[in-house]
Amino acid sequence: MSLLEVKNLNIEFTTLDGVVNAVNNLNFAVDKGEALGIVGESGSGKSQTILSIMGLLASNGRATGEILFKGQDLLKTPEKEMNRIRGKQIAMIFQDPMTSLNPYLRISTQMTEVLRLHEGCSKAEARKRALEMLDLVKIPDAKNRLDRYPHEFSGGMRQRVVIAMALLCRPELIIADEPTTALDVTVQAQILRLLEDIRQEFNTGIIMITHDLGVVATICDQVLVMYSGAVMERGSLQDIFKRPLNPYTRGLLHSVPLPDQSRGEPLYSIPGNPPNMLQKIQGCAFNPRCEFSSERCFQSKPELIEAGPGHWKACYRESGELEAFERGKVS
Ligand SMILES: Nc1ncnc2c1ncn2[C@@H]1O[C@H](COP(=O)(O)OP(=O)(O)O)[C@@H](O)[C@H]1O
Ligand SMILES: [Mg+2]
Repeated sequence: MSLLEVKNLNIEFTTLDGVVNAVNNLNFAVDKGEALGIVGESGSGKSQTILSIMGLLASNGRATGEILFKGQDLLKTPEKEMNRIRGKQIAMIFQDPMTSLNPYLRISTQMTEVLRLHEGCSKAEARKRALEMLDLVKIPDAKNRLDRYPHEFSGGMRQRVVIAMALLCRPELIIADEPTTALDVTVQAQILRLLEDIRQEFNTGIIMITHDLGVVATICDQVLVMYSGAVMERGSLQDIFKRPLNPYTRGLLHSVPLPDQSRGEPLYSIPGNPPNMLQKIQGCAFNPRCEFSSERCFQSKPELIEAGPGHWKACYRESGELEAFERGKVS
């Protein structure tokens, strides 16, 4: 049994302008010790997917399908029990550390409260464990920093504090939504390394949400590429980086800065914008922006098919066609 298995997940929002289909028929699984990356541009449905896992969708949203956490369907789990699962068994890390931290309370108070509430620790025991966690996430001089307030930490250190808090109850699954997007590249690399160490040490499952394939390359084994609420491609890190089968994935890969890219050189970005989610899309959602699109792509939506072992794609084009087209373009 997978640690988390999402089956036929659909998410709809009812708005004054109509129904928004934010996520369509999503399927994926994460095992213990495995890191899954979910990538896609802004608005592709990444955050709503994980909010539905946590039972935190906005009140106008509705999720259907199955979200099995160790076999238990979270979509059918009562709120009271979800409260116990959230934080204790599944922890979340957001882009802005202040989403998870209270600016008016000392770090020590915030961390020990979690342990006293979820684990019934004594004050002294909770303090000891909080300190251990700050050490684990490599906060220098943690002993003297434990009683500080969030604003006394830098952005990167604050995100480390949030990770320490997320780890307090030894969660089996960590879901991180753009955890390093607000940080500069050096700090970003340090935080990703920290998450990787945690995964190896505790065999934690990780879902990493990002718009940046560079982040995925650092820590993920499996990758799900989403566009306009649907999966465009899914496979191992190797599949996605070495044999991308969907033009959208190729576009995202071109948008990753290369180590040898000269400074000031503008980075490629896929032309155009994602579709308006209120409009019903005919055919492939990416086709208005796709340089490989053909008549067929306008007529009907390509199904997600297994193109190689564990490598799934939703695109009518064969990989040979994509390569021939790209070769033609450069020569
Ligand atoms: N409460 C809401 N009501 C209506 N639409 C929403 C609501 N929350 C999110 N959406 C829509 O759902 C889509 C997916 O959003 P989201 O998952 O947040 O994207 P991202 O991939 O950037 O994380 C977007 O089109 C967004 O506008
Ligand atoms: Mg988001």
